[in-house]
Order: sequence, then structure tokens, then C-alpha cells
Amino acid sequence: MTTPLPRSHPRVVPREGMPAAVTVYEVGPRDGLQAETDVIPTAVKSELCARLFAAGTRALELTSFVPPSWVPQLADAHAVVASVRPPEGARAVALVPNRRGFEDALAAGVREVAVVVSATDAFARANLNTDRAGSLARSAAVVTDARAIGIPVRGYVSMAFGDPWEGDVDVAAVVDAAAELYGAGCRTIALGDTIGVATPGDVERIVDAVEDAGVPRSALALHLHDTYGQALANVLAGLQSGVTEFDSSVGGLGRCPYAPGATGNLATEDLVWMLEGLGIRTGLDIAALARTSSWLAGVRGRPHVSRVAAALTRTPPELSEEPSV
Ligand code: HMG
Ligand code: MG
Repeated sequence: MTTPLPRSHPRVVPREGMPAAVTVYEVGPRDGLQAETDVIPTAVKSELCARLFAAGTRALELTSFVPPSWVPQLADAHAVVASVRPPEGARAVALVPNRRGFEDALAAGVREVAVVVSATDAFARANLNTDRAGSLARSAAVVTDARAIGIPVRGYVSMAFGDPWEGDVDVAAVVDAAAELYGAGCRTIALGDTIGVATPGDVERIVDAVEDAGVPRSALALHLHDTYGQALANVLAGLQSGVTEFDSSVGGLGRCPYAPGATGNLATEDLVWMLEGLGIRTGLDIAALARTSSWLAGVRGRPHVSRVAAALTRTPPELSEEPSV
């Protein structure tokens, strides 16, 4: 008897009330690699970006322009940006924590940036060396500069669902931060579950509250870490609440080095499998993503955590393609 093949695609069973298509915003090269134990060579980062674009990614966060003393893993931001050739129409974004990062990103050729604020004082201090209000003022200054020259800005509100020091986060603090970033001119507001503690009811509650404050659902994205295994359920809640942009990381890599207890982002392959099953278009090639995940696991010498990638490559997560760089 031959071994049965695993499915290569889910059965498509559309549900009412779902969008026809969504944006999958890939954060693997930035969030995915920023807390790696070993620094990944620039050539690997560059190949990762190329593989992701080839797999259909059209919104990719390449890196961040931060001091190497804060994030040594991304000290090669200029070189990464210079080496990447995004396809026509693709978004190639860099995270910038302040004006200096914005200017460096522009000089490197970046044409879309992301800023980050914290809904809590504790994480603002740990991650940005300021308080909540300071993080907002700093980001708003970048948004003003960027708008003046036509550069689109994505605004992250981190710790939107829970904070390792402060516990439950005041909804009003999240709403105010989101509304302020949107009012300043951010095109998209990404609500960040930085430590992965949200549950679906929480997602609905925050999305509703943010919309009530004047940020349309069409301008919202969900940035979900999967620490407690709730990220896919939270995406479904987001879809039901009218959100159409979701962040994920190939292989489920990533975490903020300044957020204790956090683990990786929702794996892109797992996200795309569910979206495909719901009949929602993403433009992504799930097999190519799984191969990329497997390749990266080989290069890093560490397992990826995507169940879907493991199933599609018919390997346990720790096995993978030979590294090519
Ligand atoms: P600071 O130490 O207060 O910075 O850090 P400073 O303004 O006092 O400057 C200190 C030195 O760094 C100066 O150099 C500056 O010129 C230089 P010196 O005079 O000592 O020679 N400097 C820079 N160099 C390069 N690039 C820059 C830059 N800025 C200043 N951009 C700072 C403040 C914001 C810089 C720091 O706190 C920082 O970089 N924080 C970011 C840390 C980070 O990258 N965390 C991970 C990303 S956020 C995340 O993962 C969450 C997210 O995924 C959403 C979610 O999950 O919810 C987005
Ligand atoms: Mg993150």
C-alpha cells in the first residue's frame, strides 16, 4: 500500500460575509529575523525577500532602520534594501522608530515606512526608550515628514491586547493611539498583539472601539503573534469584523526582543491555508511559501513552527531543504 499524499490545498468552502480578497502583509524579514540568536547573513535575507516576492508576496516588510545597539540582527538594513528587487506594484516597507531611521530609510531608497507606538508606558520604555505619549509624538513627527513628500506610512499600535508588565491594556489607550496615528496621516493602522494573548472576542471589541473613534475598518490590519495559539482564531474574528489586512511571518518566525514572553508571528502558510479554504484570494503560492519556510529552517539550523509548511513539505518541521547560501 502506498502512503497517502497529504492535501496540497484545502477544500474551498466559502462562508457568507467574508471578503473576496485580503492583503497578507509579510513581516518575516523584519519581525521574523530581529530576535534571531545568530545574525543572518545579508545574502540570506536578500534571498528570503526574493523567494517571498516570487511566491506572490505583494506587501513585504524588508527590515528596520534602528540603531545596531538596539537590534544588531538588522544592522545591514541599507544592504538588504539595496539588494532587493520588488516586482512592479509590490510594497517594500521598512520599519523606522524615529526621524533618524526615516531619513536613513529614504537614503537607502525605501518608499514606504512603518512607525511603531506602544499603547502602554511600560513597553514604550522598554522598546522605544520613551513613554506612551513620547512614542506617539515621535511617530507623528515621522508621519508629518513622510506625508510632506508623499511617502505612505503604516502605524503599528503595539501591546494593543495585553502587556507583560501592565497586564490588561486599557481599551481607551489603544483607541487613542490608533486614532492619533490615523489622524496624523497613517494609511493603515496595524493593531499589534505583541505577546500573542488576544482571543476572538477581544479582537472584535478592539476593532469596534477603534472604528467608533473614527478609524475605518478598511484602514485596519491585525498583527498577531501566536504565543498562545490563538492567532488563526483571531484572524477569523478579524475577518468577521471587516478587517482585510493580516500580518504574518513565513515559518512563524519572529518576536520583539523587548517583549518578554513573546513568540513568533502567525505563520504565513497557516494563514494562507485558512484563507484559501474560505475562498479568500491572497495571490500567494502556498507550496512556494512552504518551500521557503523549509529552506529558511535549514539555513537557520532550527525548526520552523508552521504546521502547514510541515505537512506540505512532508517533513517534520526540523527537516528541510539544503541551504543554498
Ligand atoms: P535611544 O537610545 O533613546 O536613541 O533609542 P537616541 O535618540 O538617544 O540615540 C542614541 C544613539 O543612536 C545616537 O548615536 C543616535 O544618533 C543613534 P550616538 O550619538 O550615541 O552616536 N540613533 C540611530 N542610529 C541608527 N538608526 C536610528 C537611530 N536613532 C538614533 N534610527 C530608539 C531610541 C527609538 C532609537 C530605540 O529605542 C529603538 O531603536 N527602538 C526600536 C527597537 C526595535 O526595533 N524593536 C523591535 C521593533 S518593534 C516590534 O517588533 C513590534 C511590532 O512588531 C508590532 C507588534 O508586534 O505589536 C512592530
Ligand atoms: Mg511584532
